[in-house]
Amino acid sequence: MILAVETSCDDTCAAVLSDQGEILANVISSQGVHDRYGGIVPEIASRHHLGLIGVVMDDALGRAAVQLEDVDLIAATRGPGLTGALLVGFSTAKALASVHRLPLAAVDHLHGHVAASFIGPTPFEPPFLSLIASGGHTLLAHVKDPGPDFEILGQTLDDAAGEAFDKGARLLGLGYPGGPELERLARDGDPEAFQFPTAARVSGLDFSFAGLKTALLYKVRELGEAEAERRRADLAASYQQAIVESLLIRIRRGLVRTGLDRLALGGGVAANGPLRQAVAELDVEVDVPPAELCTDNAAMIASAARFVTPLDFPDYLDLDVYASGEAA
Ligand code: KG4
Ligand code: ZN
Repeated sequence: MILAVETSCDDTCAAVLSDQGEILANVISSQGVHDRYGGIVPEIASRHHLGLIGVVMDDALGRAAVQLEDVDLIAATRGPGLTGALLVGFSTAKALASVHRLPLAAVDHLHGHVAASFIGPTPFEPPFLSLIASGGHTLLAHVKDPGPDFEILGQTLDDAAGEAFDKGARLLGLGYPGGPELERLARDGDPEAFQFPTAARVSGLDFSFAGLKTALLYKVRELGEAEAERRRADLAASYQQAIVESLLIRIRRGLVRTGLDRLALGGGVAANGPLRQAVAELDVEVDVPPAELCTDNAAMIASAARFVTPLDFPDYLDLDVYASGEAA
């Protein structure tokens, strides 16, 4: 039985997973407080995690009808993410594991997103090509086995795909997070109305969204306030199409490069309808986990923990979190 916590960004999450990979509880408390700032405020995120983590963990154990005594392994996200936010979950996990003399699995957040495919209603096993696209990360990986050493084939050179949605949405006067709102507005628009760049010339499998965001800004300025307002839906639809196409270009290249015919999506952007539709039309087997496993959650951290070497007490006590990249 694994009890996992995830606090790398603004969601306070705890989950209980059985050793069979069955999700017994997956509690996610989203901190709606950041919406008014148009983005996540790290200091506020940390403070909210502090207030919520105990309740969220209790809630997960309660929903799973599991006592702490039944837990064999504690798992927590070690990074990458916001340092202060990570510290809350990771330190809580360390403290709890110490008191109960339990082993601790320190999980990489991106390994967690990949491992979301291994659980849920339709478990999907490696090998597969994985696209993780969220507000914080965009990467394409060759997942050969369930362990943490998947091969990263490409990453974003600037903004993350979700960030591109959020920034575009803000330019169009929509709220935060922008992805779902932009998708909604785009339904009434023509995706062919404007041509936005897809960074197709960025060679290899890396992504770039900064040029796209700037192109939208210039287009809005060029149209002028009244016309841009009148054509908001067309702008949203064309902008969304450019993001989706930009992701698809790299997915196709990645499938060719690896020779794989299996693809898994993860991260909040995987909730995007047009992206899901586009990958469904590819001639490959596709896995898109349910939305609650795509966005940040602790069940995916528990899933990854099964394939990480756990540390015994007291070896984990001096482990630190990491904000970006991997642990030294
Ligand atoms: O995985 P996630 O919940 O948190 C991060 O780790 O960032 O992803 C959130 C991101 C936000 O940028 C949000 O705008 C985007 O995912 N997102 C979407 C959709 N739903 C969420 N982007 C496009 N279409 C959606 N339907
Ligand atoms: Zn994430």
